[in-house]
Amino acid sequence: MRILTGLQPSGKLHIGNYFGAMQPALKLQDQGDAFYFLADYHAMTSMESAAQLRENIQDLAIDFLACGLDPQKATIFRQSAIPEVNELAWFLSTVCPMGLLQRCHSYKDKVAKGLSANHALFAYPALMAADILLYDANLVPVGKDQKQHVEVTRDLANSVNERFGEGSLVIPEVQIRENAAAVPGIDGQKMSKSYNNSIPLYGAQKPTRKLFMKIVTDSAELEDPKPTEGSTVIALYKLFADEAAVQTMIQEHEAGGVGYGHFKQQVFDLYWEHFSEARAKREELENNLDYVHEVLAKGAQKAREESSKVLDRVRRAMGLSW
Ligand code: ADP
Ligand code: TRP
Repeated sequence: MRILTGLQPSGKLHIGNYFGAMQPALKLQDQGDAFYFLADYHAMTSMESAAQLRENIQDLAIDFLACGLDPQKATIFRQSAIPEVNELAWFLSTVCPMGLLQRCHSYKDKVAKGLSANHALFAYPALMAADILLYDANLVPVGKDQKQHVEVTRDLANSVNERFGEGSLVIPEVQIRENAAAVPGIDGQKMSKSYNNSIPLYGAQKPTRKLFMKIVTDSAELEDPKPTEGSTVIALYKLFADEAAVQTMIQEHEAGGVGYGHFKQQVFDLYWEHFSEARAKREELENNLDYVHEVLAKGAQKAREESSKVLDRVRRAMGLSW
C-alpha cells in the first residue's frame, strides 16, 4: 500500500503541526510504503520572497528528519524535484471543469476575505491531484481541511479513466486524521501560524518559556479553585503528560492553592523535555546540511522511478505517445 502526503514549507513548524500532521506521519511510515514530500510548488502560491522560500524548504526538510521520519522507511523528497508533476497537472486540467475549482475553499476563502488570489491558487487542487496520482498513491492521510482536495483528485482520476481507459490512474482513498489532536494556541483558539498564537516546535528556551507564561486563563487568584473545562493550560498539558499527571493537575485546579504560573511552568517543562531529542537532532542536522540534501536527492530518485512509469502510462492513454 502506498501512503502519500505533503506538507507545505510555509514557515516554522508549531506544535499543532507536530501533533496534527507529523506524529501521524511518523506512525504511518511503519505501515506501508510511505511517500512524504515538501510541497514547495504549493508554497509558492503565498510566497514572500525567494530567500524565504529557500529557507523554509531547508527548514522543513530538517524538521522532517529531526522529528523522526526515517529515510530508510519513507521516501522523502521535494515536490519540485519532479517537475513532471506539472505535466500531469496539465493533463488533469483538461478534464477539470471550471466549476470544480471554483467550489474549492482554498480559493473561495481567499476571495471571500477580499485577498487577491492568483491563478496558481485557483489551479492548486489540480496540482495537488497530480501530486497524488503521479505516484499511484492508495492512501492519502490529511487534515479535514484537505478532504475536498482529495475528493477533487478522485473526480479527476475517474474522469481520466472513463475517457481514456480504466486503470490509467489509481483512485486514492482519503484518510482523515479525525483523532489527531486539535491543538489550541496560547489564546485558546486553534493554533495556527496565521493567528499569531503558536508555540514553535523548536525555539530558544527563554522566549519559548515566556510564550507559555502568556497562555490565556481567567483571573482566578492563587488560592481560588480554577475551571478545568476549556482550560488551554490543561489541553496543552495533555499533549505531553501521562494520565496520572493530568489527573493531578485537574485536582490541583479544583482544590485551589496553586497558581497558574506554576501550572504553566509544568507544561513548559514537559514540552521542553518532549522535544529535547528532536532539538539535539535538529542541531546536528543544521551542521550537516549535505546529509539533508543527500536524503532529498535519494528520495527524488526513488520518486522518479515511480513517476516515470505513471507518466508513461498516462501519456500513452491520452494520445501523446505510442
Ligand atoms: P497553519 O494553520 O499554522 O497555517 P497549516 O495549515 O500549514 O498550519 O497545517 C499543516 C498541517 O498541520 C495540516 O495538516 C494541519 O492539519 C495540521 N495542523 C495545523 N494546525 C493544527 C492544530 N492547531 N492542531 C492540529 N493540527 C494542526
Ligand atoms: N495542500 C496540502 C496542505 O496545504 C499539502 C499538499 C500538497 C498535499 N499536495 C498534497 C497533501 C498531496 C496530501 C497530498 O496541507
